[in-house]
Amino acid sequence: MSVSRRSFLRGATAAAATFLGQPQIRASETRRFVNALKIPALLEGAPGAGGKLYELSIAAGKSEFLPGIPTPTLGINGAYLGPTIRCRAGDRVTFRVRNDLTEQTTLHWHGLHVPASADGGPHQIVEPGAVWEPSFEIKQRASLCWYHSHLMGRTGEQVLRGLAGLFLIEDEESLSLRLPSEYGVDDIPLILQDRRFNADGSFDYLSAMPDAMMGYKGNVILVNGTADPHVVLRRQRTRLRVLNGSNSRIYTLGRDDEEDLFVIGSDGGLLEQPARLRRVRLGPGERVEMLVDMQTNQTVKLMSYPDRVTAGGMGPGMMMGGMAGNTETFPIIELRAARLETTDLSLPGRLIRVPSWTPAQATRTRTFTLDMPMMGMGMGMGGMMGRRTMEGLMGINGRSMNKSRIDVQVPLGSIEIWEIRNATPLTHPFHIHDIQFRVLDRDGDPPRPNERGLKDTVLVDPDSAVRVIAEFGDFADPQHPYMYHCHILEHEDAGMMGQFVVV
Ligand code: C2O
Ligand code: CU
Ligand code: CU
Repeated sequence: MSVSRRSFLRGATAAAATFLGQPQIRASETRRFVNALKIPALLEGAPGAGGKLYELSIAAGKSEFLPGIPTPTLGINGAYLGPTIRCRAGDRVTFRVRNDLTEQTTLHWHGLHVPASADGGPHQIVEPGAVWEPSFEIKQRASLCWYHSHLMGRTGEQVLRGLAGLFLIEDEESLSLRLPSEYGVDDIPLILQDRRFNADGSFDYLSAMPDAMMGYKGNVILVNGTADPHVVLRRQRTRLRVLNGSNSRIYTLGRDDEEDLFVIGSDGGLLEQPARLRRVRLGPGERVEMLVDMQTNQTVKLMSYPDRVTAGGMGPGMMMGGMAGNTETFPIIELRAARLETTDLSLPGRLIRVPSWTPAQATRTRTFTLDMPMMGMGMGMGGMMGRRTMEGLMGINGRSMNKSRIDVQVPLGSIEIWEIRNATPLTHPFHIHDIQFRVLDRDGDPPRPNERGLKDTVLVDPDSAVRVIAEFGDFADPQHPYMYHCHILEHEDAGMMGQFVVV
Protein backbone atom coordinates (compact mmCIF):
# COMPACT_ATOMS: atom_id res chain seq x y z
CA MET A 1 0.00 0.00 0.00
CA SER A 2 1.41 3.40 -0.91
CA VAL A 3 2.29 5.85 1.83
CA SER A 4 -0.28 8.37 0.71
CA ARG A 5 -3.04 5.77 0.66
CA ARG A 6 -2.02 4.55 4.08
CA SER A 7 -2.00 8.02 5.60
CA PHE A 8 -5.29 8.71 3.90
CA LEU A 9 -6.72 5.61 5.56
CA ARG A 10 -5.35 6.65 8.90
CA GLY A 11 -6.77 10.11 8.49
CA ALA A 12 -10.14 8.73 7.47
CA THR A 13 -10.19 6.40 10.46
CA ALA A 14 -9.37 9.17 12.87
CA ALA A 15 -12.03 11.32 11.24
CA ALA A 16 -14.56 8.52 11.57
CA ALA A 17 -13.60 8.00 15.21
CA THR A 18 -14.21 11.64 15.99
CA PHE A 19 -17.36 11.66 13.90
CA LEU A 20 -18.76 8.64 15.69
CA GLY A 21 -17.68 9.81 19.11
CA GLN A 22 -15.82 6.66 20.13
CA PRO A 23 -14.41 7.33 23.58
CA GLN A 24 -10.66 7.29 24.04
CA ILE A 25 -9.31 5.31 26.98
CA ARG A 26 -8.71 7.60 29.91
CA ALA A 27 -4.98 7.90 30.55
CA SER A 28 -4.11 6.18 33.76
CA GLU A 29 -0.59 7.67 33.88
CA THR A 30 -1.56 10.07 36.63
CA ARG A 31 -3.39 7.46 38.65
CA ARG A 32 -0.56 4.98 38.99
CA PHE A 33 -2.42 1.70 39.40
CA VAL A 34 -3.32 2.57 42.97
CA ASN A 35 -5.88 -0.17 43.56
CA ALA A 36 -5.07 -3.73 44.58
CA LEU A 37 -6.72 -6.15 42.17
CA LYS A 38 -9.88 -7.70 43.57
CA ILE A 39 -9.95 -11.48 43.31
CA PRO A 40 -13.46 -12.95 42.99
CA ALA A 41 -14.30 -15.28 45.89
CA LEU A 42 -14.14 -18.99 45.16
CA LEU A 43 -17.39 -20.91 45.37
CA GLU A 44 -16.70 -24.63 45.67
CA GLY A 45 -20.22 -25.88 46.23
CA ALA A 46 -21.58 -27.75 49.24
CA PRO A 47 -21.28 -31.52 48.93
CA GLY A 48 -24.60 -33.32 49.21
CA ALA A 49 -26.34 -36.49 48.16
CA GLY A 50 -26.92 -35.25 44.63
CA GLY A 51 -23.44 -33.83 44.06
CA LYS A 52 -22.31 -30.27 44.72
CA LEU A 53 -24.80 -27.52 45.43
CA TYR A 54 -23.99 -23.90 44.56
CA GLU A 55 -26.13 -21.05 45.87
CA LEU A 56 -26.23 -18.00 43.65
CA SER A 57 -28.33 -14.93 44.46
CA ILE A 58 -28.65 -12.18 41.94
CA ALA A 59 -29.26 -8.76 43.44
CA ALA A 60 -28.73 -5.06 42.94
CA GLY A 61 -26.07 -3.23 44.91
CA LYS A 62 -23.62 -0.37 44.86
CA SER A 63 -19.93 -0.51 43.99
CA GLU A 64 -17.16 2.03 44.22
CA PHE A 65 -15.02 1.97 41.10
CA LEU A 66 -14.05 5.63 41.08
CA PRO A 67 -12.83 7.10 44.38
CA GLY A 68 -15.75 8.32 46.49
CA ILE A 69 -18.39 7.75 43.82
CA PRO A 70 -20.88 4.90 44.26
CA THR A 71 -22.12 3.18 41.09
CA PRO A 72 -25.42 1.24 41.05
CA THR A 73 -24.55 -2.30 39.97
CA LEU A 74 -25.84 -5.85 39.78
CA GLY A 75 -24.03 -8.84 41.17
CA ILE A 76 -24.19 -12.48 42.11
CA ASN A 77 -23.55 -13.09 45.83
CA GLY A 78 -22.07 -9.59 45.91
CA ALA A 79 -22.50 -6.09 44.54
CA TYR A 80 -20.71 -6.54 41.19
CA LEU A 81 -19.83 -9.67 39.18
CA GLY A 82 -20.07 -13.08 40.83
CA PRO A 83 -17.92 -15.64 42.60
CA THR A 84 -15.62 -17.97 40.70
CA ILE A 85 -17.46 -21.26 40.56
CA ARG A 86 -14.97 -24.10 40.86
CA CYS A 87 -15.61 -27.77 40.24
CA ARG A 88 -13.96 -30.92 38.91
CA ALA A 89 -14.56 -32.78 35.68
CA GLY A 90 -17.07 -35.53 36.38
CA ASP A 91 -18.81 -33.64 39.20
CA ARG A 92 -22.59 -33.55 39.43
CA VAL A 93 -23.47 -29.91 40.09
CA THR A 94 -26.71 -28.15 41.01
CA PHE A 95 -27.19 -24.41 41.02
CA ARG A 96 -29.82 -22.71 43.13
CA VAL A 97 -30.14 -19.43 41.25
CA ARG A 98 -32.29 -16.88 43.08
CA ASN A 99 -33.39 -13.72 41.31
CA ASP A 100 -33.68 -10.94 43.89
CA LEU A 101 -33.92 -8.27 41.20
CA THR A 102 -37.11 -6.48 40.24
CA GLU A 103 -36.58 -7.54 36.64
CA GLN A 104 -36.23 -10.82 34.75
CA THR A 105 -32.85 -12.34 34.13
CA THR A 106 -31.11 -15.59 33.15
CA LEU A 107 -27.73 -17.20 33.86
CA HIS A 108 -26.01 -18.91 30.97
CA TRP A 109 -23.01 -21.23 31.46
CA HIS A 110 -20.78 -20.03 28.63
CA GLY A 111 -18.50 -22.79 27.37
CA LEU A 112 -20.25 -25.61 29.18
CA HIS A 113 -21.51 -28.71 27.48
CA VAL A 114 -24.89 -29.12 29.19
CA PRO A 115 -28.46 -30.06 28.20
CA ALA A 116 -30.20 -27.20 26.39
CA SER A 117 -32.87 -26.95 29.11
CA ALA A 118 -30.11 -26.18 31.66
CA ASP A 119 -28.14 -23.82 29.39
CA GLY A 120 -29.51 -20.60 30.88
CA GLY A 121 -30.11 -18.93 27.54
CA PRO A 122 -32.99 -16.63 26.58
CA HIS A 123 -35.59 -19.37 27.21
CA GLN A 124 -34.64 -20.12 30.82
CA ILE A 125 -35.98 -16.89 32.28
CA VAL A 126 -35.79 -16.47 36.03
CA GLU A 127 -38.64 -14.21 37.14
CA PRO A 128 -38.16 -11.70 39.97
CA GLY A 129 -38.33 -13.57 43.28
CA ALA A 130 -38.08 -16.96 41.59
CA VAL A 131 -35.49 -19.70 41.92
CA TRP A 132 -34.08 -21.68 38.99
CA GLU A 133 -32.38 -24.95 39.77
CA PRO A 134 -30.52 -26.57 36.88
CA SER A 135 -28.50 -29.69 37.57
CA PHE A 136 -25.96 -31.37 35.30
CA GLU A 137 -22.77 -33.36 35.09
CA ILE A 138 -19.48 -31.69 34.16
CA LYS A 139 -18.66 -33.58 30.97
CA GLN A 140 -15.57 -31.72 29.87
CA ARG A 141 -11.97 -31.20 30.76
CA ALA A 142 -10.15 -28.53 32.74
CA SER A 143 -10.96 -25.09 31.38
CA LEU A 144 -11.82 -21.53 32.21
CA CYS A 145 -15.45 -20.95 31.32
CA TRP A 146 -17.81 -18.26 32.57
CA TYR A 147 -21.43 -17.44 33.27
CA HIS A 148 -23.51 -14.39 32.51
CA SER A 149 -26.98 -13.02 31.96
CA HIS A 150 -28.49 -13.92 28.57
CA LEU A 151 -31.85 -12.15 28.69
CA MET A 152 -33.18 -11.60 25.20
CA GLY A 153 -32.62 -8.01 24.10
CA ARG A 154 -31.07 -7.01 27.43
CA THR A 155 -27.93 -9.10 27.73
CA GLY A 156 -25.69 -6.13 27.01
CA GLU A 157 -27.21 -4.01 29.73
CA GLN A 158 -27.33 -6.73 32.39
CA VAL A 159 -23.78 -7.92 31.78
CA LEU A 160 -22.59 -4.32 31.77
CA ARG A 161 -24.20 -3.73 35.15
CA GLY A 162 -22.38 -6.76 36.56
CA LEU A 163 -24.06 -10.09 35.86
CA ALA A 164 -21.05 -12.25 35.01
CA GLY A 165 -18.55 -14.51 36.74
CA LEU A 166 -15.95 -17.21 36.11
CA PHE A 167 -16.55 -20.96 35.95
CA LEU A 168 -13.37 -22.90 36.58
CA ILE A 169 -13.20 -26.61 35.81
CA GLU A 170 -10.21 -28.62 37.04
CA ASP A 171 -9.20 -32.19 36.30
CA GLU A 172 -6.48 -34.66 37.30
CA GLU A 173 -4.66 -34.39 34.02
CA SER A 174 -4.20 -30.63 34.14
CA LEU A 175 -3.28 -30.67 37.85
CA SER A 176 -0.60 -33.30 37.14
CA LEU A 177 1.17 -30.88 34.78
CA ARG A 178 2.30 -28.81 37.78
CA LEU A 179 1.27 -25.54 36.21
CA PRO A 180 0.69 -22.69 38.68
CA SER A 181 -2.69 -23.43 40.23
CA GLU A 182 -2.99 -21.71 43.59
CA TYR A 183 -6.02 -19.50 43.03
CA GLY A 184 -5.36 -15.84 43.67
CA VAL A 185 -1.67 -16.46 44.44
CA ASP A 186 0.05 -17.77 41.32
CA ASP A 187 -3.12 -18.56 39.37
CA ILE A 188 -4.81 -15.22 38.88
CA PRO A 189 -8.12 -14.58 37.14
CA LEU A 190 -8.45 -11.38 35.12
CA ILE A 191 -11.91 -10.34 33.90
CA LEU A 192 -11.36 -7.50 31.42
CA GLN A 193 -14.16 -4.97 30.99
CA ASP A 194 -14.42 -1.39 29.82
CA ARG A 195 -16.95 1.06 31.21
CA ARG A 196 -18.08 4.68 30.89
CA PHE A 197 -19.46 6.63 33.81
CA ASN A 198 -22.01 9.41 34.09
CA ALA A 199 -21.25 12.33 36.38
CA ASP A 200 -23.45 10.80 39.12
CA GLY A 201 -21.36 7.60 39.07
CA SER A 202 -23.87 5.43 37.22
CA PHE A 203 -22.75 3.46 34.19
CA ASP A 204 -23.34 5.27 30.93
CA TYR A 205 -24.90 2.78 28.51
CA LEU A 206 -26.27 3.28 24.99
CA SER A 207 -26.26 7.04 25.30
CA ALA A 208 -23.95 7.36 22.34
CA MET A 209 -25.07 6.40 18.86
CA PRO A 210 -22.05 4.18 18.10
CA ASP A 211 -22.77 1.92 21.11
CA ALA A 212 -25.62 0.12 19.42
CA MET A 213 -23.98 -0.22 16.03
CA MET A 214 -20.27 -0.58 16.76
CA GLY A 215 -20.71 -2.14 20.20
CA TYR A 216 -20.35 -0.46 23.58
CA LYS A 217 -16.94 1.00 24.34
CA GLY A 218 -15.90 2.43 27.69
CA ASN A 219 -13.03 4.71 28.58
CA VAL A 220 -12.16 3.13 31.94
CA ILE A 221 -10.73 -0.38 32.08
CA LEU A 222 -11.92 -2.54 34.96
CA VAL A 223 -10.21 -5.81 35.89
CA ASN A 224 -12.35 -7.97 38.20
CA GLY A 225 -14.24 -4.75 38.86
CA THR A 226 -11.07 -2.87 39.87
CA ALA A 227 -10.12 0.39 38.16
CA ASP A 228 -6.39 1.26 37.92
CA PRO A 229 -5.40 -2.15 39.25
CA HIS A 230 -2.11 -3.63 40.29
CA VAL A 231 -1.41 -7.12 41.54
CA VAL A 232 1.53 -8.19 43.67
CA LEU A 233 3.07 -11.43 42.48
CA ARG A 234 4.85 -13.82 44.84
CA ARG A 235 6.22 -16.53 42.60
CA GLN A 236 8.61 -16.39 39.64
CA ARG A 237 5.95 -17.80 37.40
CA THR A 238 2.30 -16.78 37.40
CA ARG A 239 -0.59 -18.13 35.40
CA LEU A 240 -3.00 -15.48 34.21
CA ARG A 241 -6.45 -16.71 33.29
CA VAL A 242 -7.94 -13.96 31.23
CA LEU A 243 -11.57 -13.55 30.23
CA ASN A 244 -12.58 -10.79 27.89
CA GLY A 245 -15.86 -9.98 29.63
CA SER A 246 -16.32 -6.71 27.74
CA ASN A 247 -19.45 -6.04 25.74
CA SER A 248 -17.57 -5.36 22.50
CA ARG A 249 -13.94 -4.35 22.97
CA ILE A 250 -11.22 -6.52 21.47
CA TYR A 251 -7.88 -6.48 23.31
CA THR A 252 -4.48 -7.25 21.86
CA LEU A 253 -2.55 -8.33 24.92
CA GLY A 254 1.18 -7.95 25.37
CA ARG A 255 3.83 -7.11 27.97
CA ASP A 256 5.20 -3.58 27.96
CA ASP A 257 8.75 -4.96 28.22
CA GLU A 258 8.08 -6.82 24.95
CA GLU A 259 8.86 -10.21 26.48
CA ASP A 260 6.82 -13.09 25.12
CA LEU A 261 3.69 -14.45 26.71
CA PHE A 262 3.51 -18.24 27.08
CA VAL A 263 0.01 -19.14 26.02
CA ILE A 264 -1.11 -22.48 27.45
CA GLY A 265 -4.87 -22.45 27.11
CA SER A 266 -7.82 -21.20 25.09
CA ASP A 267 -11.60 -21.14 25.71
CA GLY A 268 -12.14 -24.86 26.19
CA GLY A 269 -8.95 -25.90 27.97
CA LEU A 270 -5.22 -26.37 27.56
CA LEU A 271 -3.44 -26.28 24.21
CA GLU A 272 -1.45 -29.26 23.00
CA GLN A 273 1.72 -27.26 23.45
CA PRO A 274 2.59 -23.85 24.87
CA ALA A 275 2.79 -21.06 22.30
CA ARG A 276 5.30 -18.22 22.74
CA LEU A 277 3.66 -15.07 21.47
CA ARG A 278 4.42 -11.38 21.69
CA ARG A 279 0.76 -10.46 21.23
CA VAL A 280 -2.53 -12.25 21.78
CA ARG A 281 -5.78 -10.94 20.40
CA LEU A 282 -8.79 -11.62 22.62
CA GLY A 283 -12.35 -10.91 21.53
CA PRO A 284 -15.43 -10.60 23.76
CA GLY A 285 -16.32 -13.96 25.29
CA GLU A 286 -12.90 -15.50 24.57
CA ARG A 287 -10.48 -16.71 27.22
CA VAL A 288 -6.75 -17.18 27.20
CA GLU A 289 -4.50 -18.77 29.81
CA MET A 290 -0.90 -17.72 29.85
CA LEU A 291 2.25 -17.87 31.93
CA VAL A 292 4.15 -14.77 32.89
CA ASP A 293 7.68 -15.05 34.31
CA MET A 294 9.09 -12.21 36.40
CA GLN A 295 12.14 -11.34 38.46
CA THR A 296 12.21 -9.97 42.00
CA ASN A 297 11.31 -6.27 42.11
CA GLN A 298 10.38 -6.17 38.44
CA THR A 299 7.32 -4.25 37.34
CA VAL A 300 5.58 -5.14 34.10
CA LYS A 301 2.40 -3.77 32.62
CA LEU A 302 0.00 -5.98 30.77
CA MET A 303 -1.03 -3.80 27.87
CA SER A 304 -3.47 -3.68 25.00
CA TYR A 305 -1.96 -2.65 21.68
CA PRO A 306 -3.52 -1.53 18.40
CA ASP A 307 -4.73 -4.25 16.08
CA ARG A 308 -3.41 -4.78 12.65
CA VAL A 309 -6.70 -3.80 11.14
CA THR A 310 -7.98 -4.89 7.80
CA ALA A 311 -9.53 -1.90 6.14
CA GLY A 312 -12.42 -3.13 4.06
CA GLY A 313 -12.43 -1.04 0.92
CA MET A 314 -13.71 2.48 0.46
CA GLY A 315 -16.67 4.39 1.82
CA PRO A 316 -18.21 3.98 5.27
CA GLY A 317 -17.11 0.35 5.18
CA MET A 318 -13.50 1.39 5.13
CA MET A 319 -13.98 3.72 8.04
CA MET A 320 -15.73 1.06 10.07
CA GLY A 321 -13.09 -1.44 9.06
CA GLY A 322 -10.52 0.90 10.50
CA MET A 323 -12.45 0.82 13.73
CA ALA A 324 -13.07 -2.89 13.86
CA GLY A 325 -10.26 -3.28 16.36
CA ASN A 326 -8.30 -1.24 18.81
CA THR A 327 -6.46 1.80 17.57
CA GLU A 328 -5.21 2.64 21.05
CA THR A 329 -2.35 1.57 23.29
CA PHE A 330 -3.31 1.40 26.95
CA PRO A 331 -2.35 -0.42 30.14
CA ILE A 332 -4.68 -3.02 31.64
CA ILE A 333 -2.94 -3.90 34.88
CA GLU A 334 0.44 -3.47 36.54
CA LEU A 335 2.14 -6.68 37.65
CA ARG A 336 4.44 -6.01 40.60
CA ALA A 337 6.93 -8.64 41.60
CA ALA A 338 7.73 -8.64 45.31
CA ARG A 339 10.48 -10.96 46.62
CA LEU A 340 9.73 -13.94 44.48
CA GLU A 341 9.75 -17.54 45.59
CA THR A 342 11.71 -19.52 43.04
CA THR A 343 9.64 -21.91 41.02
CA ASP A 344 10.37 -24.51 38.42
CA LEU A 345 10.64 -22.55 35.19
CA SER A 346 10.79 -25.49 32.85
CA LEU A 347 7.80 -25.88 30.60
CA PRO A 348 6.36 -29.14 29.40
CA GLY A 349 6.80 -29.32 25.63
CA ARG A 350 3.49 -31.08 25.45
CA LEU A 351 0.46 -30.27 27.58
CA ILE A 352 -2.54 -32.42 26.64
CA ARG A 353 -4.07 -34.09 23.63
CA VAL A 354 -6.80 -31.87 22.25
CA PRO A 355 -9.68 -33.62 20.46
CA SER A 356 -9.69 -32.90 16.76
CA TRP A 357 -11.83 -33.80 13.80
CA THR A 358 -10.98 -33.83 10.13
CA PRO A 359 -13.17 -32.34 7.40
CA ALA A 360 -13.57 -35.87 6.01
CA GLN A 361 -15.46 -36.84 9.18
CA ALA A 362 -17.95 -34.02 8.79
CA THR A 363 -21.39 -34.99 7.53
CA ARG A 364 -22.14 -31.48 6.37
CA THR A 365 -21.05 -27.87 6.14
CA ARG A 366 -23.37 -25.07 7.13
CA THR A 367 -22.81 -21.44 6.27
CA PHE A 368 -23.60 -18.55 8.57
CA THR A 369 -23.32 -15.08 7.07
CA LEU A 370 -23.28 -12.22 9.55
CA ASP A 371 -25.47 -9.36 8.33
CA MET A 372 -25.84 -5.72 9.18
CA PRO A 373 -28.20 -4.88 6.33
CA MET A 374 -28.67 -1.26 7.32
CA MET A 375 -25.00 -0.65 6.78
CA GLY A 376 -25.45 -1.23 3.09
CA MET A 377 -26.81 1.20 0.54
CA GLY A 378 -30.31 1.55 1.93
CA MET A 379 -30.25 3.25 5.24
CA GLY A 380 -26.82 4.84 5.32
CA MET A 381 -25.18 6.56 8.23
CA GLY A 382 -27.73 9.36 8.45
CA GLY A 383 -30.64 7.01 8.97
CA MET A 384 -28.92 5.27 11.84
CA MET A 385 -27.90 8.35 13.73
CA GLY A 386 -31.05 8.83 15.74
CA ARG A 387 -31.42 5.23 16.86
CA ARG A 388 -30.59 4.15 20.34
CA THR A 389 -30.83 0.45 19.65
CA MET A 390 -30.54 -1.63 16.54
CA GLU A 391 -33.14 -4.16 17.61
CA GLY A 392 -34.05 -6.41 14.75
CA LEU A 393 -31.58 -4.71 12.44
CA MET A 394 -28.82 -7.26 12.64
CA GLY A 395 -29.00 -10.87 11.66
CA ILE A 396 -27.46 -14.06 10.44
CA ASN A 397 -28.25 -15.41 6.97
CA GLY A 398 -30.64 -12.51 6.46
CA ARG A 399 -32.75 -13.23 9.52
CA SER A 400 -32.86 -11.52 12.86
CA MET A 401 -33.21 -13.63 16.03
CA ASN A 402 -36.70 -14.97 16.67
CA LYS A 403 -37.28 -17.01 19.81
CA SER A 404 -40.05 -19.02 18.19
CA ARG A 405 -38.04 -20.00 15.10
CA ILE A 406 -35.55 -22.87 15.04
CA ASP A 407 -32.92 -22.04 12.46
CA VAL A 408 -30.88 -25.21 12.42
CA GLN A 409 -31.41 -28.88 13.32
CA VAL A 410 -28.30 -30.89 14.02
CA PRO A 411 -28.52 -34.69 14.23
CA LEU A 412 -27.22 -36.00 17.57
CA GLY A 413 -23.67 -37.27 17.37
CA SER A 414 -22.85 -35.68 14.06
CA ILE A 415 -19.67 -33.86 13.22
CA GLU A 416 -20.27 -30.65 11.30
CA ILE A 417 -18.29 -27.83 9.78
CA TRP A 418 -19.73 -24.40 10.39
CA GLU A 419 -18.41 -21.72 8.10
CA ILE A 420 -18.89 -18.22 9.44
CA ARG A 421 -18.73 -15.48 6.84
CA ASN A 422 -18.47 -11.85 7.67
CA ALA A 423 -19.92 -9.56 5.04
CA THR A 424 -19.83 -6.53 7.35
CA PRO A 425 -17.08 -3.97 7.95
CA LEU A 426 -16.73 -4.91 11.65
CA THR A 427 -14.98 -7.82 13.34
CA HIS A 428 -17.45 -10.13 15.10
CA PRO A 429 -16.75 -12.75 17.80
CA PHE A 430 -18.94 -15.72 16.85
CA HIS A 431 -20.02 -17.99 19.71
CA ILE A 432 -21.74 -21.37 19.69
CA HIS A 433 -23.46 -22.84 22.76
CA ASP A 434 -23.28 -26.51 23.77
CA ILE A 435 -20.09 -27.54 21.99
CA GLN A 436 -16.38 -26.80 21.92
CA PHE A 437 -15.01 -26.58 18.39
CA ARG A 438 -11.66 -26.59 16.67
CA VAL A 439 -10.85 -23.79 14.24
CA LEU A 440 -10.07 -25.38 10.87
CA ASP A 441 -8.98 -22.30 9.00
CA ARG A 442 -9.40 -18.60 8.46
CA ASP A 443 -9.61 -17.72 4.75
CA GLY A 444 -7.80 -20.97 4.10
CA ASP A 445 -4.94 -20.17 6.47
CA PRO A 446 -4.30 -22.22 9.61
CA PRO A 447 -5.53 -20.70 12.89
CA ARG A 448 -3.15 -18.71 15.09
CA PRO A 449 -1.15 -20.75 17.63
CA ASN A 450 -3.31 -19.54 20.55
CA GLU A 451 -6.41 -20.74 18.69
CA ARG A 452 -5.20 -24.32 18.30
CA GLY A 453 -7.18 -25.67 21.21
CA LEU A 454 -10.84 -26.19 21.95
CA LYS A 455 -12.82 -23.00 21.50
CA ASP A 456 -16.39 -21.77 21.72
CA THR A 457 -15.90 -18.24 20.42
CA VAL A 458 -13.87 -17.09 17.44
CA LEU A 459 -13.14 -13.70 15.90
CA VAL A 460 -14.23 -13.30 12.30
CA ASP A 461 -12.69 -10.29 10.57
CA PRO A 462 -14.37 -8.19 7.87
CA ASP A 463 -14.56 -9.85 4.46
CA SER A 464 -13.32 -13.05 5.92
CA ALA A 465 -14.55 -16.58 6.52
CA VAL A 466 -13.66 -18.89 9.40
CA ARG A 467 -14.39 -22.62 9.36
CA VAL A 468 -14.86 -24.46 12.63
CA ILE A 469 -15.56 -28.13 13.23
CA ALA A 470 -17.26 -29.84 16.18
CA GLU A 471 -19.12 -32.90 17.34
CA PHE A 472 -22.65 -32.40 18.65
CA GLY A 473 -22.83 -35.18 21.23
CA ASP A 474 -24.73 -36.33 24.31
CA PHE A 475 -27.80 -34.11 24.54
CA ALA A 476 -30.70 -34.31 22.13
CA ASP A 477 -33.78 -32.20 22.79
CA PRO A 478 -36.13 -31.09 20.02
CA GLN A 479 -37.93 -28.67 22.39
CA HIS A 480 -35.09 -26.60 23.79
CA PRO A 481 -32.76 -24.74 21.46
CA TYR A 482 -29.17 -23.66 21.95
CA MET A 483 -27.98 -20.29 20.66
CA TYR A 484 -25.26 -19.22 18.28
CA HIS A 485 -24.53 -15.53 18.05
CA CYS A 486 -22.18 -12.62 17.84
CA HIS A 487 -20.70 -11.98 21.30
CA ILE A 488 -20.69 -8.24 20.79
CA LEU A 489 -23.59 -7.99 23.19
CA GLU A 490 -25.19 -5.04 21.41
CA HIS A 491 -25.19 -7.08 18.19
CA GLU A 492 -26.63 -10.10 19.96
CA ASP A 493 -29.35 -7.88 21.45
CA ALA A 494 -29.98 -6.43 17.99
CA GLY A 495 -30.71 -9.89 16.62
CA MET A 496 -27.37 -11.26 15.40
CA MET A 497 -28.29 -14.60 16.95
CA GLY A 498 -29.92 -17.83 15.88
CA GLN A 499 -31.16 -21.06 17.44
CA PHE A 500 -30.27 -24.69 16.86
CA VAL A 501 -31.64 -27.89 18.27
CA VAL A 502 -29.83 -31.20 18.50
CA VAL A 503 -32.17 -34.06 17.59
CU1 C2O B 1 -21.50 -15.92 26.43
CU2 C2O B 1 -24.69 -17.01 24.30
O1 C2O B 1 -23.11 -16.45 25.42
CU1 CU C 1 -22.50 -19.40 25.56
CU1 CU D 1 -21.14 -8.52 15.94
